[in-house]
Amino acid sequence: MFRKKVELDTTSLKIPEHVAIIMDGNGRWAKQRHLPRQAGHRAGVENLRRIIDACIEFNIRILTIYAFSTENWQRPQTEVRGLMRIFARVLNQEVYELHEQGVCIYHLGDLHGVETHLQEKVRDAMELTKNNTRLILNVAFNYGGRAEILHAVRQMMADNVHPEDVTEKLFSHYLFTADLRDPDLLIRTSGESRISNFLIWQAAYSELYFSPVYWPDFGREELYEALQDYSHRDRRFGKLSAEEDEVEEEEEVASD
Ligand code: IPE
Ligand code: IPE
Ligand code: MG
Repeated sequence: MFRKKVELDTTSLKIPEHVAIIMDGNGRWAKQRHLPRQAGHRAGVENLRRIIDACIEFNIRILTIYAFSTENWQRPQTEVRGLMRIFARVLNQEVYELHEQGVCIYHLGDLHGVETHLQEKVRDAMELTKNNTRLILNVAFNYGGRAEILHAVRQMMADNVHPEDVTEKLFSHYLFTADLRDPDLLIRTSGESRISNFLIWQAAYSELYFSPVYWPDFGREELYEALQDYSHRDRRFGKLSAEEDEVEEEEEVASD
């Protein structure tokens, strides 16, 4: 549905560098409208286009989206086939425009087990857009956080990494996200409050935002609301907040 684009002021907002989204609720969106689930997935893809444009507008540098999990293969074959058809169509129709917009497309997950023609399209999209810097778009496709961790462990063992050399930094390097910044803000739509095996290592200190809105309806204004909420968060990483830190120092001086 056409929605009038309203002015949204971002000057007073803290913009997260890296936003990750669990795009959930396509099926329920369709059910509500007495449509087949596939119609929900199509609407979800249309919404992704809006969210990519909004990320560029809001100066978000990295967007990571959960498109298909390692567990989603357990859905009925007809739904899985339908989703694969949508991915192939998106890769055919959208990649060039994304390239023009300066989007760098990157795949997270395991391409083995995915149909060969899809594997090729994903590789071509990454190759075409690899030097773009406006927005890094990571697409988690056939992705699972636990599988990613096992993959990293296997790679480290194959490289004969010495146990003493296994640091958090080195381990991160072996993940699909490699040396990419961890997500600052992790959004899940559709009212579910769980991570569902998404970025389980990388999201250790991400700010979580759960929205009741189904993914096809989670547009630019809903993203803006999430950014407003994020702007008020106090990210402490186990330390004290900046103000508390100052008070603490003063109190310590006073008691000395
Ligand atoms: C998310 O929507 C899309 C994928 C998991 C591929 P769902 O298909 O999970 O929608 P719901 O959760 O059934 O509403
Ligand atoms: C998570 O959604 C996966 C994606 C959005 C691709 P699911 O719908 O598969 O997650 P659960 O089953 O509700 O945990
Ligand atoms: Mg779901």
